[in-house]
Amino acid sequence: MLVTGNDILVPARAGKYGVGSFNTNNMEITQAIIHTAERLRSPVMVQMSEGAIKYGGQDLANIVIDLARRATVPVALHLDHGSSYESALKAIKMGFTSVMIDASHHDFEGNVKETRRVVEAAHAMGISVESELGRLGGIEEHIVVDEKDAFLTDPEEAVQFIEQTGTDYLAIAIGTSHGAFKGKGRPYIDHARIEKIASLTGIPLVAHGSSGVPQDIVERFRKAGGEIGDAAGIADEDLQRATQFGIAKVNVDTDLRLASTVGIREALTANPKEFDPRKIFGPARDVMSQVIEHKLRVLGSVGKA
Ligand code: 13P
Repeated sequence: MLVTGNDILVPARAGKYGVGSFNTNNMEITQAIIHTAERLRSPVMVQMSEGAIKYGGQDLANIVIDLARRATVPVALHLDHGSSYESALKAIKMGFTSVMIDASHHDFEGNVKETRRVVEAAHAMGISVESELGRLGGIEEHIVVDEKDAFLTDPEEAVQFIEQTGTDYLAIAIGTSHGAFKGKGRPYIDHARIEKIASLTGIPLVAHGSSGVPQDIVERFRKAGGEIGDAAGIADEDLQRATQFGIAKVNVDTDLRLASTVGIREALTANPKEFDPRKIFGPARDVMSQVIEHKLRVLGSVGKA
């Protein structure tokens, strides 16, 4: 069933588990996300970035909405990193049930102002809103505390921000970053900060940049002819602990990009004569499903729907 972000995330925060929010760009990715969630009785969120909207438009949104409506588990369609009020409203018009307004590059007052506008409009239509406070980016463990604090979300500010905006859930900067190269060794994640923010606030918290960049997938990528440097992601144990402390929405894009490319490369390498798209994109969907299953188990959402 198609539901709002709040319908999925409020129980997750209360039940101390995480909900995977996976980016989609086509039918196969969408099927892998929703069908795996159904098989594992897990609530799930499907998100489209502004780039995905540009690429797939209403056609892609309709695929997600149709699969979500027919799904036997709760599914929300979420706008990832909406850059403006107009962008958030456009997504709502397209049928999204959850939108992010990312005004985190503004100063605190500017961020509050832009976020509140979106919250007021979205709430009038029954849609829930994610916003962001702090600056995401690769933070290495060797960075001194003062430098870290300049980027990571300040707990007291988070309290004020939530009060002043009425946001439904909040993306916080805790050391994670987008992409396949999250820093050398074990990428940093600030559990104490999550715990502090969660203790002062009641709403679901969101972790961006949560791909694990599984090393077996990276190896397969290389073996199938792909080129990738020192790729690293968030360790499963670190992500699991984050959900215990209040992270309820967990954003994953890179892992599905890698998984689908592995499936395509392996299929083409194994069968150079193949030109049936179903025999190329089908294996990609299978590899994505395996990666999604692993993630849902790590997050503890299996059996919650
Ligand atoms: P990853 O690059 O770690 O998958 O993060 C995606 C994300 O946070 C999208 O908002």
